Amino acid sequence: MSKITIAIDGFSSTGKSTLAKQLAKELGYVYVDTGAMYRAITLFAMRNSFIGNGEERLEDLVKLLPKINLRFVPNAELGFSEMYLNDENVEKEIRTMQVSKFVSRVAEIEQVRYKLVEMQKNMGKEKGIVMDGRDIGTVVFPDAELKVFMTASPQARATRRYKELLDRGEDVLYKDVLENVEKRDFIDSHREFSPLRKAKDAIEFDNSDMGLKEQFERLLSIADRFIEKV
Ligand code: DC
Repeated sequence: MSKITIAIDGFSSTGKSTLAKQLAKELGYVYVDTGAMYRAITLFAMRNSFIGNGEERLEDLVKLLPKINLRFVPNAELGFSEMYLNDENVEKEIRTMQVSKFVSRVAEIEQVRYKLVEMQKNMGKEKGIVMDGRDIGTVVFPDAELKVFMTASPQARATRRYKELLDRGEDVLYKDVLENVEKRDFIDSHREFSPLRKAKDAIEFDNSDMGLKEQFERLLSIADRFIEKV
């Protein structure tokens, strides 16, 4: 059976990654979390004081972009790939609230997007890929056979994210998480370069009131239909 390209875009904390990861596993496809790539660049910028603590020297970040090496390294035990920044495993660190706070700002930079989009296009050359992000169906793979655009209310998304952060032992307030989700929605959909928007041919998937099992079954049946068509 021919393999296809599956692009999953949508707002922050819609559960895109969990679902995309499960779908890729079921289909035997490669899974790529592009948010992890923007997060890793943000972590690099924070560590070098290019952003955070009231500082912003993004032109210095741009100068160092060629020196930033990003890799996904499969972890057989966990069953998924982890993000490596210049040979260091940063999978945990890129998921903190601190990184979430600054990532949209870094993701607005044209040169950052150019670097990451090139890498993502290369990863998808062979098809058989599920990639999630904000601009996958519009910019990275405009010809993807299946495009899904995930949405859910800001409250439903903040509740999920809040639980996730508490489970990871972070000391956060629900109101701060909701504020972060809403702020990221705004920046992500209003930025100049590849803003978050639904591709014309994407299927909208609102999961505000859906459990994980139902979401997965629905998405899998959509994917099966598209795979049968090729
Ligand atoms: O999916 P996520 O929440 O981990 O993504 C983190 C941030 O990265 C998000 O606020 C927007 C940005 N992003 C982007 O601009 N383009 C992508 N393809 C993926 C993520």
